[in-house]
Amino acid sequence: MPYDRDVQAFHDRASDYEAGYRGRMHHDIAARTAEVALKVEPQPRRVLDVGCGTGLLLRLLAERRPDIEQLAGIDAAEGMISVANATEHDSRISFSTGVAEELPYPDDSFDLVVSTTSFDHWQDQQAGLTQCFRVLAPKGHFVLTDLFSLWLTPTLIRSHRGRARTKRRAQTLLKDAGFRTIEWHHSYALIISTVVVSK
Ligand SMILES: C[S@@+](CC[C@H](N)C(=O)[O-])C[C@H]1O[C@@H](n2cnc3c(N)ncnc32)[C@H](O)[C@@H]1O
Repeated sequence: MPYDRDVQAFHDRASDYEAGYRGRMHHDIAARTAEVALKVEPQPRRVLDVGCGTGLLLRLLAERRPDIEQLAGIDAAEGMISVANATEHDSRISFSTGVAEELPYPDDSFDLVVSTTSFDHWQDQQAGLTQCFRVLAPKGHFVLTDLFSLWLTPTLIRSHRGRARTKRRAQTLLKDAGFRTIEWHHSYALIISTVVVSK
């Protein structure tokens, strides 16, 4: 099946994704998300990163927690997964190609699910969140970082109609997926926030 436009763009620019200003920004966002995630789930055993890109966040988590048993990353763009596999990483980390809307894992598989700056690109955000809920173990945490801000309201009128780009919209989708909303954290610049929810 052909990629949608966003995923095709990530596939095409995978080899220099971690370079330059944008690479540094994604690194900083991953670092902040890792910090929040390890506060709410200090000793995760199994971690999933949905829309993992080149694996930045999983590499940071593996570095900080030698006791994590398994770290899985899934991403829609094959190019991102190729770069993730080619970048030196811990043997506990594995990457595969796939989409949030159809996660290929059994129910209750992970005690921590994370996702950074990917959710805004999911074709069906509600289906993706429902899958994240399904694969998360009871009492586990889902830590989601993305564009959530009232400043983005104008973008919802035309180009991004129907997207969950405000906290209110995101909370509605998270609640409908089954999650309990716990807390919001400021993440990066004015428009990127992290929400932590639990099953
Ligand atoms: C901005 S990148 C973020 C990558 C990584 N999470 C990071 O923080 O560096 C967005 C990623 O989401 C992936 N993506 C887009 N739609 C997706 C979907 N439906 N399911 C899984 N991954 C998706 C893209 O291929 C891309 O690698």
